[in-house]
Amino acid sequence: MININGHTSVYGIIGRPIGHTMSPAIHNMISEAMGIDSVYVPFAANDDLGSIVRGLFSLGVKGINVTVPYKTDIIYELCGLEQMALDIGAVNTLKYTPNGYYGYNTDIIGLERELKDERVLLRGRNVVILGAGGAARAVAFLCASKGAASITIVNRTLNKALDIRADVAAYANKTGLYQLSSNIYAVTIKEIGSILYDDCIAFQCTNVGLSPNDDACVVHDLGFYKRVSVGIDLIYKPANTMFMQYVRSAGGVSHNGLKMLIYQAVSAYEIWHGVVVPEVVIYDIERSLQ
Ligand code: ATR
Repeated sequence: MININGHTSVYGIIGRPIGHTMSPAIHNMISEAMGIDSVYVPFAANDDLGSIVRGLFSLGVKGINVTVPYKTDIIYELCGLEQMALDIGAVNTLKYTPNGYYGYNTDIIGLERELKDERVLLRGRNVVILGAGGAARAVAFLCASKGAASITIVNRTLNKALDIRADVAAYANKTGLYQLSSNIYAVTIKEIGSILYDDCIAFQCTNVGLSPNDDACVVHDLGFYKRVSVGIDLIYKPANTMFMQYVRSAGGVSHNGLKMLIYQAVSAYEIWHGVVVPEVVIYDIERSLQ
């Protein structure tokens, strides 16, 4: 049990709603395992974001995670942010500095670490992204920065897929990824049969299939799944989504989003505390959340 006293440093998460968050459990498990005198609590956000951030800063809260619906708006409340977070346009981790909070996107670092663990290499690969919300946007930027050969964004609402396509293409041009910039596509779910590539890595970034709708899936086209050699669902509850089942029954390998969730928390913890969280602690957290 954490022994809270007058010296205990305080961390937390702001969002609305916040009741479902697993972050306090993960962060407090790390502090306990590593014997670090800090506590992590949920803050239900009921005021304007500027007031919330000023309040937390005044109280000396050392680090804050930010979740739905604030990941973009929070950018205007920061003293600075990492380039990748700026490119994506989303921040989920704030670190206290004397000048204000500095922003990071550890969702993307978390996914990068999950892919490394699962030995999924993006360089030279054809990627399909299902969805065009905040999570899909972050995944698209990660794929571009890791040298994917092509990116196809598939979404119910085409305009949102087109927006991500334009922003990732601009990023690719800015960073000299000219080959990629002409191989980014946006299609509707109905047009999924028009995907040009075999042997794709597919990321499921919609909330379709999230518990309690375990049997739902955004795409049912078996022809599509035959093209998928690796499928990563960002959903972690249920642990075995319908998307993952489709991928596996077509012969591919699938992963859920639990490691991404844990690694985004671990990466925030490491940024805040300047420590490396040992593998054994990460393993114990994963086991306790399964
Ligand atoms: P997040 O921040 O987790 O990415 P989001 O920004 O709300 O969440 O995005 C949710 C994604 O799930 C979107 O791509 C959304 O499609 P639309 O852009 O067309 O709304 C997708 N989505 C949600 N419910 C869906 C459904 N019933 N069928 C198809 N796509 C759905």
